[in-house]
Amino acid sequence: MTTAGQDWSNPVDWASALRPPRVLRRMLALDDFEDAARRVIPRPIFGYVSGGAETNAALRGNRAVWDEVALVPRTLVDVSGRSQKTTLFGRAYDSPFGIAPMGGTAMAAYEGDLVLARAAAAANIPMILSGAALTPLERIKEAGPTAWFQCYLPGDAGPITQLVERCARAGYETICLTADVPVLANRENNVRSGFNNPLRLTPRLAWDGLVRPRWLFGMLLRTLLTHGMPHTENMGPRVPLFSRTAHRDRGKRDQLSWKHLELMRRLWKGRLVVKGVLEAEDARIARESGADGVIVSNHGGRQLDGAAAPLRVLPGIAAQAGNMTVMLDSGVRRGTDVLKALALGAQFVFIGRPFLFAAAVAGEPGVRHAIRLLHDEIDRDMALIGINGLAEMRRERLMPARGVEFLKG
Ligand code: GLV
Repeated sequence: MTTAGQDWSNPVDWASALRPPRVLRRMLALDDFEDAARRVIPRPIFGYVSGGAETNAALRGNRAVWDEVALVPRTLVDVSGRSQKTTLFGRAYDSPFGIAPMGGTAMAAYEGDLVLARAAAAANIPMILSGAALTPLERIKEAGPTAWFQCYLPGDAGPITQLVERCARAGYETICLTADVPVLANRENNVRSGFNNPLRLTPRLAWDGLVRPRWLFGMLLRTLLTHGMPHTENMGPRVPLFSRTAHRDRGKRDQLSWKHLELMRRLWKGRLVVKGVLEAEDARIARESGADGVIVSNHGGRQLDGAAAPLRVLPGIAAQAGNMTVMLDSGVRRGTDVLKALALGAQFVFIGRPFLFAAAVAGEPGVRHAIRLLHDEIDRDMALIGINGLAEMRRERLMPARGVEFLKG
């Protein structure tokens, strides 16, 4: 890619460069997609995606933490050879970020999971398919070879064995077990915005659909006419997107424990990642249980309200990781955020909501545009910091943004 964001050797990029959807001209940073998506997605679904748990303290904390860290660049360094390519689990990726798992993607954007998978594969970055997604995991792996699979599992050997075997048959190399969902979170905002899971055709949703024809025709009716009623496909019994009576049986998630991770390790020959770790001791246990990696995450502020921002606990976790790969999600929005996380011990980061919003606003060209924006920010930031490779992004390039330490020097 160039700094203008187009890969001129790629004919698909040529086409999108010639006629990008007009709305993308106004999308200058990942955060810009949220407001644009608010106008496209019905309020109950938008509220579900954008909100966190209870007071949103964890959600806010995930964003505020980046401002506590300042960057200390080097000057007059020849940075003309800079590259943000990186290797993760033995595979080369073009950027140090990927798309985090989001179960609601295909209720916000037409073929949303496929759109994310295709755009990620085109940019050679990973996309993690959510276990709660409305698209079968097999279709995603065919459409986007860089996809990983994320699962919600009960503490029950039967479903764990079945899922691991299914992922192996579908050709997945990496499974990510989400560990921070023993119970459903208290998402009051879902009640306030009228979100139900499965969706119910309430007067509010009906009205919101009518005043958002793009979603009604371009997403919902198009989906129903082309594919029929979507269902959860990768997690227990299939549950339809719309139902007054269906109930999601989540199984015994509150019984899931380290012994189930050890069982997965025995069954799964690929890479095994634990997502939702916030404590150094848990990182040690994950390593000793055979995990290949952890994602330091508070689930985008959607589970335990007031949970620590992942950046704060990252250095302690990195210190316990040994050979295990440390990744981070929750609140990453800027190239500088990515580089700060790398300096504090992450090898890779994941970003969720902005890519879902980009899919809702402009489909696959929207997601490609969002990926390009972040790619170009990282490229520019690397030059301004004075580094040519991500491994140079070390602690020396950071200092506290506040406080009076500098007076002591
Ligand atoms: C699912 O993981 C959610 O956070 O809603």
